[in-house]
Amino acid sequence: MAVSVIILAAGKGTRMRSKLPKVLHAVCGKPMLHHVMDTARRFGAEHQAVVIGPDMDEVRAAAEENDPAVRVFIQEQQLGTGDAVKAAKDVFNNAAEGDVTFILYADTPFVSSASLEQMQRASETSAVVVLGFEPEDPSEYGRLKLGEEGALEAIIEYKEASEDERKIGLCNSGVMAVHTQKLADLLSRVADDNAKGEYYLTDIVEIANADGLRCATVRGDENEVLGVNNREQLAEAEAIMQDKLRKQAMENGVTLIAPETVFLQEDTVLGKDVVIHPNVVFAAGVKLHDGVEIRSFCHLEGVEIKKNAVVGPFARLRPGTVLEEEVRIGNFVEVKKTHVAKGAKINHLTYVGDAEVGEGANIGAGTVTCNYDGYNKHQTKIGKNSFIGSNSSLVAPVEIGEGAIVAAGATVTKDVPKDALVKNDMPQTVQEGRAKEMREAQK
Ligand code: UD1
Ligand code: MG
Repeated sequence: MAVSVIILAAGKGTRMRSKLPKVLHAVCGKPMLHHVMDTARRFGAEHQAVVIGPDMDEVRAAAEENDPAVRVFIQEQQLGTGDAVKAAKDVFNNAAEGDVTFILYADTPFVSSASLEQMQRASETSAVVVLGFEPEDPSEYGRLKLGEEGALEAIIEYKEASEDERKIGLCNSGVMAVHTQKLADLLSRVADDNAKGEYYLTDIVEIANADGLRCATVRGDENEVLGVNNREQLAEAEAIMQDKLRKQAMENGVTLIAPETVFLQEDTVLGKDVVIHPNVVFAAGVKLHDGVEIRSFCHLEGVEIKKNAVVGPFARLRPGTVLEEEVRIGNFVEVKKTHVAKGAKINHLTYVGDAEVGEGANIGAGTVTCNYDGYNKHQTKIGKNSFIGSNSSLVAPVEIGEGAIVAAGATVTKDVPKDALVKNDMPQTVQEGRAKEMREAQK
């Protein structure tokens, strides 16, 4: 039995008021289209198809990035959801008995694979299965009309619904599973003689019933089927997903002191007994091992932090950074593309980029690795147990030897050997009593 998925993404999404196609807007750092494609993959769909509009090359590229084997179909004109599915007819032309095609919407990013599994089970006995839900406010969703035995008789679009039908609380999420062999025939009989003048996919339910085929519903959670049509709903979707990720983190043994102020990504990996203080933002690609502590107001992206390291408050860790065990990064420190070995300390007001920091090294306040000469980036190597004095500039490429000391305020332009002391001698002149004289001259 083959399971195919068709994801509809041809809508223009005008209500987003955006240059970016709607389905590429991100929720928790990931485009909505990718959320849906990932769910379909987890569910075990062998074939994924995405229906896009003309001039949607960006959406095509995003679909192919997620799954190089995806089949992309173009719906030339937006004539409705039924017409959109038809655009992907190659998917369901050569079906075998028992094959099922799922239809998902790319702007409904949270449909769970558990619901798809439930639908698949229901499809063993029903030709059409629809994922329904009971929203607090059913507003303009299509309504699911059930028969005496609970079978699905029809989907009534809001615009076509009578007063009584609008009172039905059970709504159409848009997600459907249809026996693949029946799909082409059912769609061929859908007409556009309705309030919107569109080919409604939802009409296939009545057509199937008229043929004596059984249709059924499966119920999902309201949060799961939230559709994103505007920026407000995009923010709502973000909030729902963040809440879920925070709960998951806490269930896995992470302390979030003020969970609502911590922003995670789907790919954030947090070990046991990690402690996250208030107001911390995780961008993509962060992995924290057990016992790491992130203090308030940090921003992390593309970093791996090993056991018991402590970061922040007010630190910015940028892609390509690895902190080994027990490293300490303090306030107003930025670290980029740098490997910091075990127990090294970078505690205050420092920029370290394109560098290697040796075990146990101590980087003083105001140290800057001058990694960029205006044209190229260069490497800085800071030896094991070395001591970099405050306010020093390490002009890359440069290497500070093991156990060396860089005096405060030094500008280091040449390599420093092991155990050496380096300083830029600047004569210090002292004029006795001069400060007092200057003060008095002001009076
Ligand atoms: C649809 C359902 C409605 C359901 C609601 C759930 C129909 C007729 N109605 O209504 O019962 O309650 O979703 O959110 O299906 N699309 C195309 N090509 C088109 C038209 C739409 O690809 O020609 C895509 C859109 O990109 C979108 C999806 O199909 O991803 C849904 O289209 P939309 O116009 O938003 O349908 P609704 O009016 O919300
Ligand atoms: Mg919609």
